[in-house]
Amino acid sequence: METLIPTINRLQEVFLTLGAEIIQLPQIVVVGSQSSGKSSVLESLVGRDFLPRGSGIVTRRPLVLQLVNLFQLDSLFSFSVFHIQGISPEPIYLKIFSPKVLNLTLVDLPGITKVPVGDQPKDIEAQVQEMILSFISNPNCLILAVSPANSDLATSDALKLAREVDPDGRRTLLVVSKLDLMDAGTDALEVLLGRVIPVRLGIIGVVNRSQHDINTQKSLEDSMKDEQAFLQRHYPSLVSRAGSRYLAKTLSRLLMHHIRDCLPDLKTRVTVLSAQYQARLNSYGQPVEDHSATLLQIVTKFASDYCNTIEGTARHIQTSELCGGARICY
Ligand code: GDP
Ligand code: NA
Ligand code: MG
Repeated sequence: METLIPTINRLQEVFLTLGAEIIQLPQIVVVGSQSSGKSSVLESLVGRDFLPRGSGIVTRRPLVLQLVNLFQLDSLFSFSVFHIQGISPEPIYLKIFSPKVLNLTLVDLPGITKVPVGDQPKDIEAQVQEMILSFISNPNCLILAVSPANSDLATSDALKLAREVDPDGRRTLLVVSKLDLMDAGTDALEVLLGRVIPVRLGIIGVVNRSQHDINTQKSLEDSMKDEQAFLQRHYPSLVSRAGSRYLAKTLSRLLMHHIRDCLPDLKTRVTVLSAQYQARLNSYGQPVEDHSATLLQIVTKFASDYCNTIEGTARHIQTSELCGGARICY
């Protein structure tokens, strides 16, 4: 994701120059059943461990993580999230300021549960489903459907819910977690190749930290190294299109596509604004010396140059990514 930061920052400069609203990046929302690895997946994307996560610790409320890019700040602030018994649709907002993040919103949702525990209401399943649907039905949301490799993909709750709001699969990415926990003698190759259930944006297998890794405070960095080694050993043919890093790259590419799709609009806005200012200038009559017009030209050129640069960057990233991993997209 870090490669996107300078581009987004430049874009936002353009938007500020234009006095326009900042591009709305899609929200990234994780869905899946309880303990499928949703929080772990988000955590590896952010690169920090601060989410309530682990066996027995579950997300009871939507957690809206607002990542805020902030220069010259080398620390990360977050406040701890205490958990409550009941399920509540009222989100908890957590703002994370860091120079290493994109201005992006990630949403960690409670897992899909089947059986009420403790004092949970009998209709807990319906309540949670409704809450999840209310988030993922937003068309400007990218769905990360998390399904563990050690359970049948055909019965994946995550995919089932994603399909309800995104039947064409235009904004659903499937993450297959827990590749390391499959029964001896089985593997997820067919699933990862999309031969079991095809997923248009791709299917990415990952290995996150186990509960033991968390208890022994294994670092995220070490975990990623071990994940790479695991993939090399068990999925050599897929090693370049699996794993947490590849997931982050894929998300960056999808965000880049989104920005690219916004560019025609941005260009139109530049043209319209430029015409408006020109008209206003003209209404002031003939200037003695036309300094302001020159200035306007400079600003307009500056903005459209930026558009071209960003378009170029987007195209470049897209091409290089496609060379790396075209096969998983069906
Ligand atoms: P969530 O309920 O969907 O948010 O799941 P969590 O991210 O909290 O993970 C649930 C448990 O599964 C935790 O104990 C994690 O350490 C463990 N876990 C998650 N992903 C993996 C994985 O890929 N491999 C292994 N071995 N454990 C994992
Ligand atoms: Na599950
Ligand atoms: Mg969780």
